[in-house]
Amino acid sequence: MSKSKSKSKNIKSGKPTMASVADRFDCYQKSVQTPDHEVVFFEQAYRDAYGSAPTDLREDFCGTFAICCDWVASKSKRTAIGVDLCSETLQWGRDNNLAKLKKSQQKRVRLIEQDVRKRNRPTVDVLAAQNFSFWIFKTREEVIEYFKIAHSNLRSKGVMVMDMMGGGECYEEGLVDKRKIVKGKKGFKYHWEQVSFNPITADASFAISFKFADGSKMKRAFEYHWRFWTIPEVREMLAEAGFGESHIYWEKDDEDIDDDEYSTWERQETAPSDASWICYIVAVK
Ligand SMILES: C[S@@+](CC[C@H](N)C(=O)[O-])C[C@H]1O[C@@H](n2cnc3c(N)ncnc32)[C@H](O)[C@@H]1O
Repeated sequence: MSKSKSKSKNIKSGKPTMASVADRFDCYQKSVQTPDHEVVFFEQAYRDAYGSAPTDLREDFCGTFAICCDWVASKSKRTAIGVDLCSETLQWGRDNNLAKLKKSQQKRVRLIEQDVRKRNRPTVDVLAAQNFSFWIFKTREEVIEYFKIAHSNLRSKGVMVMDMMGGGECYEEGLVDKRKIVKGKKGFKYHWEQVSFNPITADASFAISFKFADGSKMKRAFEYHWRFWTIPEVREMLAEAGFGESHIYWEKDDEDIDDDEYSTWERQETAPSDASWICYIVAVK
């Protein structure tokens, strides 16, 4: 993950700026992750496929492995394997997420610092690759190779869960989605920037920045250079990699749901052409 670029001192007061003392991983987790929601969804996806509850999770591209931690805390028999290349990110997760768990829960999390394109044992019930992480693979060959390995890291009854985004707005260069994040005492603003999109290659760059109450900014704290894959392309590659079925879970249009409640998801084969959407793809082994 890239380093943040922020001014370290307020010129008038000489005090450190809020951006210079903020923790970019903490801001990231508060802005883009809802691990408890993911855990509930993974269980729904597995139950829909096999009619029983899953026990063992592998989180590819796990970063600070927040989902692994919520997974093992959700049931006493659950285990989680987190896989990521970046030692700094994994270490932040050990110090800040793993450390908050009970000892008995910590023992059920295993971390592997390696490329996700490796076979590991034991196999698992659910393999998740969240926040569009596999978009780092830009060719069909690379994605299919990854999906084949993911397939082999699952038990005979296993599901692979990924999220996808799309809609016309997602192709607009320079568009910035701004949200205020207030978790804990200090609020801050989260900016998701669509930096560039090349319609010929579907190469797309995105960046996350944070803005604080004193006006200081952590500019482009995280940057991503991805291929903008579409749902049908991904489903075709999953089939080629050996998955028996794939299902799209679209957000339920639920008027009764409050803004602070999580969305619910259901299998769909048609969906409205919203300007901006996210959904899950669940591949069933
Ligand atoms: C977009 S972040 C996702 C973090 C987290 N999964 C989430 O949902 O927010 C992508 C992560 O993938 C890791 N990564 C990128 N390429 C990888 C690879 N080939 N193998 C393992 N990890 C990789 C990066 O180090 C980074 O932590």
